[in-house]
Amino acid sequence: MPIELYRAAFAYPDGSPALSSVTLRVGDGERLAIVGQNGAGKTTTVKLMNGLLKPTHGEVRVDGVLTTDRTTAQIARIVGYVFQNPDDQLFASDVRTEIEYLPRHLGWPDEMRTERVERAIDITGIRPHLDANPKDLPMAIRKFVAIAAVLVGACRYIVLDEPTAGLDARGLDLLRSMLDHLRDDGTAVVTITHDMRFVIDTFDRVVAMADGTVIADGRCADVFADDEVLHRARIKRLIVAQIARDLELSRTALTVDDVVALVP
Ligand SMILES: Nc1ncnc2c1ncn2[C@@H]1O[C@H](COP(=O)(O)OP(=O)(O)OP(=O)(O)O)[C@@H](O)[C@H]1O
Ligand SMILES: [Mg+2]
Repeated sequence: MPIELYRAAFAYPDGSPALSSVTLRVGDGERLAIVGQNGAGKTTTVKLMNGLLKPTHGEVRVDGVLTTDRTTAQIARIVGYVFQNPDDQLFASDVRTEIEYLPRHLGWPDEMRTERVERAIDITGIRPHLDANPKDLPMAIRKFVAIAAVLVGACRYIVLDEPTAGLDARGLDLLRSMLDHLRDDGTAVVTITHDMRFVIDTFDRVVAMADGTVIADGRCADVFADDEVLHRARIKRLIVAQIARDLELSRTALTVDDVVALVP
């Protein structure tokens, strides 16, 4: 069953509307990226998906049920959210306690708990840091700790809020291989990111947001070829795409392979 936002609007108590009207559907096992400039409403949108926020107008349904009819804890069992800033999420004084918190809280049997904890540790590469205090770890590793603490819940949907920020090439490789694991499991993944290369290399579907609404939703090749969308979402065209245009080879090429295939 999908996550469905229908004309969802949200205003923070002390601010002007953060989302004006968002209509968006994420199917089971689907993978997509959300892009857009700072303040576009990306984080607010995903917080509506996992029930951390409830819409002020419109509807948000998870598995067909309105989020306003469920508690945040109930929705969080289906849709796991990894915070944009790990320091908003992490609370334990060592990594292992942090990772084991959710399974203990849910009272899973020992065997199941161990299996899921070990798996989350392995696919996020945090095993060398289990005894460390998260506060003492570099930001990039704190992010993977925050991801592991959510993965361990084995939700059907995982939302990653800017996992690429501050990652080096090695971190990006690790993130990609983690996403491969989740794809093989059939876990749906929604990723917010400012890294367009990462989007193109990792996702087929991209949602562009601006001014609290969705301005494009489709295949990367189509969305990134739309000048109006790039302008409104303040996205710079990739160098490869620019070269393909300058050479009048293609308006939709996004990778070196795309361009090479077109050279006569
Ligand atoms: N807790 C809050 N209280 C009041 N206004 C907020 C709050 N959080 C976000 N906003 C406002 O809501 C709008 C949308 O913010 P949101 O965090 O969803 O954007 P975003 O696309 O995730 O941006 P970024 O790329 O900077 O993370 C912005 O105008 C922001 O200033
Ligand atoms: Mg955000």
